[in-house]
Amino acid sequence: MKPVKVGICGLGTVGGGTFNVLIRNADEIARRAGRSIEVAAIASRRENSACDTSGFTFTNDVMALARDPDIDIVVELIGGYEVARELVMTAIEHGKHVVTANKALIAVHGNEIFAAANEKNVVVAFEAAVAGGIPIIKAIREGLAANKINWLAGIINGTGNFIMTEMREKGRAFNDVLAEAQALGYAEADPTFDVEGIDAAHKLTILASIAYGIPLQFDKSYTEGISKITPEDVQYAEELGYRIKHLGISRHTEQGIELRVHPTLIPKSTLLANVNGVMNAILVSGDAVGQTLYYGPGAGAEPTASAWWLI
Ligand code: HSE
Repeated sequence: MKPVKVGICGLGTVGGGTFNVLIRNADEIARRAGRSIEVAAIASRRENSACDTSGFTFTNDVMALARDPDIDIVVELIGGYEVARELVMTAIEHGKHVVTANKALIAVHGNEIFAAANEKNVVVAFEAAVAGGIPIIKAIREGLAANKINWLAGIINGTGNFIMTEMREKGRAFNDVLAEAQALGYAEADPTFDVEGIDAAHKLTILASIAYGIPLQFDKSYTEGISKITPEDVQYAEELGYRIKHLGISRHTEQGIELRVHPTLIPKSTLLANVNGVMNAILVSGDAVGQTLYYGPGAGAEPTASAWWLI
């Protein structure tokens, strides 16, 4: 059978990780997918020193890649809203399937994107957009398909959790830990998205849409970040038997579905309170199954690359 031809747009942290995993695990992936996957082209403004792209077709024109008749799947890893939207819509218009890790794009423009994809009978896969390497979209959509989801709550921003953990365990200063999160490739290009809760609100919007079968409604989320948390807050919480965790919470209420993202005091003994560093965890309550918990790395090149092809 002919290989599936993939075009990777963006060769930053996640793009580079995706390229490397696709090349390194090509045989495993082909065995599972039933067809081999070939990186037919890479579109990026710059090279990534972590990737050996010699011998691969390289361009800086992402839109040309989205129109290229030789490409079956466009992998959007450039991030941001507008160029990414145009790229994805162009790819769909040209009958290509799309894989994206872009939570901002899905949360804000997802309704329009899925309508276009439906019309063209192509798939837009976005597993890597929420909680890095945790296959949470697949778990809710398929694993819990028989359930009515009552509520979900989770730590869904790795950078924020890394900052809160380092402040508590090592007494480090907020800005110092944020700089490390940026160097490790955890933080968004604009880290305000991480520390002001916007990234978590994007992810919560997506989770709620999948869990309850509702349109994406990012503007309805209450959004508060961790930037006002002081070392004293962290210490007092600890003395009182609590941890401060930045949570995304969504549940059915009498008024409708609630979406909120904010720092939360949770008892030290709970599982969520012990999710540390860049790890994410999401509790999902279904009417048939009860509570389930999903845990794993929430950010970083290869953990995110690990999730990209799940549909
Ligand atoms: N900046 C994001 C985070 C990356 O820290 O969770 C993964 O979505």
